[in-house]
Amino acid sequence: MTNTLLLDAAFSKPTERPPVWMMRQAGRFMPQYWEIKNRYSFLEMCKTPEIAADVTMLPVDLLDVDAAILFSDILVTGEAMGGDLSFTQGVGPRFANPVRTAQDVDALETEVGDRLQYVADAIKVIQQRLNGKIPLIGFAGAPFTVMSYLVEGGSSKDFKRTKLMLHNEPELAHRLLAKIATVTADYLNLQIAAGVNAVQIFDSWAQALSWDDYTEFSHRYIVEIISRLNRKDIPVISFCKGSSVFAPLMAEAKPDVVSIDWNVDLLDIKKRLPKTVAVQGNLDPHILYADKSVIKNRIHKLFERMRGENGFIFNLGHGIMPDIPFDNVKYAVEVIKEFRY
Ligand code: CP3
Repeated sequence: MTNTLLLDAAFSKPTERPPVWMMRQAGRFMPQYWEIKNRYSFLEMCKTPEIAADVTMLPVDLLDVDAAILFSDILVTGEAMGGDLSFTQGVGPRFANPVRTAQDVDALETEVGDRLQYVADAIKVIQQRLNGKIPLIGFAGAPFTVMSYLVEGGSSKDFKRTKLMLHNEPELAHRLLAKIATVTADYLNLQIAAGVNAVQIFDSWAQALSWDDYTEFSHRYIVEIISRLNRKDIPVISFCKGSSVFAPLMAEAKPDVVSIDWNVDLLDIKKRLPKTVAVQGNLDPHILYADKSVIKNRIHKLFERMRGENGFIFNLGHGIMPDIPFDNVKYAVEVIKEFRY
């Protein structure tokens, strides 16, 4: 591979500058994304390997980032298990058959590799296009976050039904989470077998949970998934919104990298983790709305703070918002790539 910055930083080896990629880098803030999106539905884009590859390559070609991330969604595992998934503009993801009873949980399937074969096919096309230039990151949703969509039937502000299931029917919740965890580990291994160079687990909504509930209903399944991965030479990145609180526990699941939200000082949290665990983060994505001078200053401030630390990957604390100006994202990548330790 020509550019190994991301893999080196993930394995806590020295790099000449921090590598850069951004969550949701292949998405709606790019005019070129809309040229494709206007012709296909989101799921068609995910399920057609040539199109998924075209979208994956947009930020590689237009932003020159140090890693590509597979174009897909965390909810494809839920769909493969039997969820009736759709994405509607302005509404977001929806499962038309929410999972709420014991019968619903029992009906979910766990042998779903065949149904996710299109992801393996997309990975092969993307790797041909990348041609060894930069690593490709695969990903999956963490069981708690995927469960929340299955139970709520879509996005939620307060996760009321999901948390009620955890609190009133913990055994049922565990049966559901265990099924999702089995599928998720198999799915990440399918991606690794197809050729991804790193994997990230997204637990986007973990911040909704108390420490005890996070430990019981999220963390233990992430431990299980990571322990089952065929991860030789494949770094594992663990992301959650809420990592400024949960990072020490996340590190106990033995990922190579913990991805940190923007509520905490990055050096501070890194020093609280084992030395072999790298950090990724943690610019507030809203900085990318601001003036270019602000963008540059905040990136330099973060990098000066992390100077002398191995094991640091630049990213945002969460994904790029769809209305962030493309030009600002491009500028941020340029600032990062010019920096030297
Ligand atoms: O990072 C990337 O560029 C790779 C592609 C990617 C998408 N979704 C594409 C997408 C990744 C890594 C995801 C992960 C994902 N999906 C997460 C975890 C990341 C995070 O932000 O916390 C979550 C929670 C989802 C679930 C999901 N998918 C939601 C809530 C939505 C709607 C969001 C919205 O803002 O409307 C999606 C749809 C989705 N996934 C889009 C894209 C590009 C938008 C689809 C469209 O064009 O309408």
